Amino acid sequence: MSDPASKPDRNAGANAKSGPDGDIDPRALRNALGCFTTGVTIITAMNAQGKKAGLTANSFSSVSLNPPLVSWSLSLYAPSLAIFQDSSHFAVHVLARDQEDLAMHFATPSDDKFADIQTVEGLGGAPLLAGAIATFQCRNAYRYYGGDHIIFLGGVESFEAGEGDPLLFCRGAFGDFANAE
Ligand SMILES: Cc1cc2nc3c(=O)[nH]c(=O)nc-3n(C[C@H](O)[C@H](O)[C@H](O)COP(=O)(O)O)c2cc1C
Repeated sequence: MSDPASKPDRNAGANAKSGPDGDIDPRALRNALGCFTTGVTIITAMNAQGKKAGLTANSFSSVSLNPPLVSWSLSLYAPSLAIFQDSSHFAVHVLARDQEDLAMHFATPSDDKFADIQTVEGLGGAPLLAGAIATFQCRNAYRYYGGDHIIFLGGVESFEAGEGDPLLFCRGAFGDFANAE
């Protein structure tokens, strides 16, 4: 017989809601959205003047297989915005679980995030980082405005994927699968 006490609590975590009149508390919304566990990427690009940009992003998503399209969104307030707007390509690196320090490095604004980082040049000059479990090189194909972010849609022109466990992000913290070996 099953023990009712062991059933999952369907109301667990349901202690922050928007009001019935639709008022949304941004902090509560952010916390609720943070329940959606994601992988972690670093997205890089280079513009026509040779300026490089790179940031940590968990908004990455697959969109379409045929044609192959991926998306991610960038804050309109990000210092790197102009470079991503002006780049012909971007590269998406899906981080391995031992790349948390790199994720924090690329999540911190800096004049030259690439100063101490070894890269090789990818399509459109996008800097390619070592150690990712998957890398997608994309044509910077379409852009859409969405509130305080721009959504970039990339056409995948080249990709590679290897072994290794992913770095995860949930509720503002990095982690990994409990059953990872
Ligand atoms: C796990 C994680 C995920 C992030 N995801 C995004 C994202 O999807 N879009 C975004 O604009 N910023 C995101 N950020 C914040 C950027 O990485 C951060 O603002 C970075 O400094 C932006 O790069 P820039 O300062 O060179 O413009 C994320 C930060 C972390 C730690």
